[in-house]
Amino acid sequence: QKQGRLQNKHVVISAGGTVEPIDPVRYISNRSSGKMGYALAKAAAEQGAQVTLVSATTTLSDPIGVKTIHIQSAQDLSDQMMAALPAADIMIMAAAVSDYRISEPAVNKLKKQTSGQLTLTLVENPDILAQLGAMKKEQYLVGFAAETQNLLEYAQTKLVKKNADMLVANDVSKQQVGFGYDTNQVTILTKNQEPQVLPLQDKLSVARKIMQKISEVIN
Ligand code: C5P
Repeated sequence: QKQGRLQNKHVVISAGGTVEPIDPVRYISNRSSGKMGYALAKAAAEQGAQVTLVSATTTLSDPIGVKTIHIQSAQDLSDQMMAALPAADIMIMAAAVSDYRISEPAVNKLKKQTSGQLTLTLVENPDILAQLGAMKKEQYLVGFAAETQNLLEYAQTKLVKKNADMLVANDVSKQQVGFGYDTNQVTILTKNQEPQVLPLQDKLSVARKIMQKISEVIN
């Protein structure tokens, strides 16, 4: 089985939506299902890779044959991805990372305010993809971009700004695309090639095409 094109490659993938605590029982998160990242982990394992999946919240079960690490916050995810970077050949940021976190999560459960208002102060989280892009050496770095307008233009800017080698862009304003769905329609951008538009298909098929393309460029 371990005869694929990614044999002897260590692939590290992040998936799911990060969780930012407000107090011990409440949090801020997002609608990411984790399906795209989990499909990528499965596709990489099929290709013979050694796969580490760093998973934020999802209802999916751990993929077979994949080392799965469960984390909560963007900071946890950053710590795990940075720690995994030196031993990785390919890193894929498919997680939906919260751009902000609560500046000081309450130690005890917050009580209802007598004023009828509650103000939460948010501070910016690290951009993990950009951190990895700044620190990487030989690693092949892949990011995602979910956009509702100017898809290619924004994705191209992210590719360069975050120093990624590949950016997978999807237009989430379209039906059946991205967050929560089982299907996705993506355009793959790389530094040196023309953007490649893939048709709408299930996420595992998309994942296989992405892994295929990565294996072609790195081998
Ligand atoms: O800038 P934007 O959030 O659209 O970029 C999306 C890409 O950057 C995704 O690959 C996502 O996993 C990653 N990202 C990150 N850290 C953040 C925000 C996004 O790694 N704080």
